[in-house]
Amino acid sequence: MIIVKLGGSIISDKTTPFSFNEGVVRHIADEIAAVYPRQKFVLVHGGGSYGHPLARKYGIREGLGKRDRSMGFTRTHQAMLELNHKIVSVLLEKELPAFPVAPSSLFILRDGEVVHGDLTVVQELLAREFIPVLFGDVALAEDRGIDILSGDQIITYLARKLEPEKVIFLMDVDGIYDKDPKKHPDARLVEVVEDPSSIAGETGTFDVTGGIHNKLVQAFKLPCPAWFINGMVKGNLTRALRGEQVGTRVKRN
Ligand code: IPE
Repeated sequence: MIIVKLGGSIISDKTTPFSFNEGVVRHIADEIAAVYPRQKFVLVHGGGSYGHPLARKYGIREGLGKRDRSMGFTRTHQAMLELNHKIVSVLLEKELPAFPVAPSSLFILRDGEVVHGDLTVVQELLAREFIPVLFGDVALAEDRGIDILSGDQIITYLARKLEPEKVIFLMDVDGIYDKDPKKHPDARLVEVVEDPSSIAGETGTFDVTGGIHNKLVQAFKLPCPAWFINGMVKGNLTRALRGEQVGTRVKRN
């Protein structure tokens, strides 16, 4: 089984609220359909311009407090369900038996980390050759009442329990760079990362879940190899599925 993360920046335009990049999801679905059911998948997508602006607007990470926050919790989840519906619809068009699974119904957090999770349904879906589709979501939290659970945290949890062959992160850049390529034209693509502290952390203002550095830190917690590739480029996913060199590969020592 292979876990694929559809990063929020490829499935939506993060600068335009509620935008959906249907064409990108379509070509990813084509590449999955070419190897399914020989290859099993769990898909996890990000919040993009559906989840992040609402999570920020309502201050979900600050926990429960004002009534406005509980409305925001529900509204942010609704927005994620809407995005999930669009993604699952494209997968179904390609005859892939994708099935939505809402992480806020599976996980409880404390201090921003998962302290309770139940993967029975995900495992049973996989056993029946469905493709579970999870997503970065709101979540109940023991400490602050409510919080946000990123797709990357979900992947860390899934990978520890389900032992995938690999995890492939689809992003809107060619992989991990030694500096932020959007700010530094001389940034170099790193083909293999063996130490997360070797990559400078850039704190984005958009993501409520921590940006690229957090993604790398999470990738190092995985029990399997991870690929960070450009999901906007047709054929990249196929190359990573075959184990060919594309983007950045994270290798733990
Ligand atoms: C964020 O999930 C989910 C919400 C804001 C509700 P991710 O952190 O996985 O999303 P992307 O991939 O960065 O957009």
